[in-house]
Amino acid sequence: MTQDELKAQVGQAALAYVVPGEIVGVGTGSTVNKFIDALATLKDRIPGAVSSSEASTLRLQALGLRVFDANEVGELAVYIDGADEIDGRGYMVKGGGAALTREKIVAAQSRRFVCIADASKRVEVLGAFPLPVEVIPMAAARITRQFAALGGTARVRLKDGAPLVTDNGQHILDVTGLSIKDPLAFETEVNQWPGVVTVGVFAHQKAAVCLLGTPEGVRTLTF
Ligand code: 5RP
Repeated sequence: MTQDELKAQVGQAALAYVVPGEIVGVGTGSTVNKFIDALATLKDRIPGAVSSSEASTLRLQALGLRVFDANEVGELAVYIDGADEIDGRGYMVKGGGAALTREKIVAAQSRRFVCIADASKRVEVLGAFPLPVEVIPMAAARITRQFAALGGTARVRLKDGAPLVTDNGQHILDVTGLSIKDPLAFETEVNQWPGVVTVGVFAHQKAAVCLLGTPEGVRTLTF
């Protein structure tokens, strides 16, 4: 089975967690794209979605799904999103698609985070995937030094040779060389550094369920 097929498998399986009659929170990325495609089959049974990125909004709308502003709606029953890494406690690294801030906002607005991922994303310790951190550009050099003090190497993410600009108009640092053994404490610490918009550790907004795509089928992990 290809990685693409594993993603399609979990995207389809996530439909079981969508609550009929309720707005669903929708993440960002190639796995979520599979989920959005599958969600189109339920479009007459839900009012629509709250989206975590411009890219997901465009895809949802193209398939005829209504997209609500997060401020227009209350708490969501479920948020469905991918991950770059997920550990055995449901803690995740996210932001490979640069959408981490809005992802964390929609996750915080939702009662239940359902993570959809292929089996390569399951790790013992977070940190092998370069940790995305959205930052205010004028703070990038100082935050880079703060990560160096923790043993990490931060680099500004580039797109077409220039710093990538997020949906929120900010930059992304990708940090290598970290081993994040206490994700809750790490997220709390880095989030309060001046100039950090969002750190891509999702420990306070961890997954409640992970649908893991494996060649033997979808494994359901609960945390
Ligand atoms: C985007 C994310 C994605 O969920 C994460 O990067 C996984 O993406 P993919 O499903 O393409 O592997 O956090 O900001």
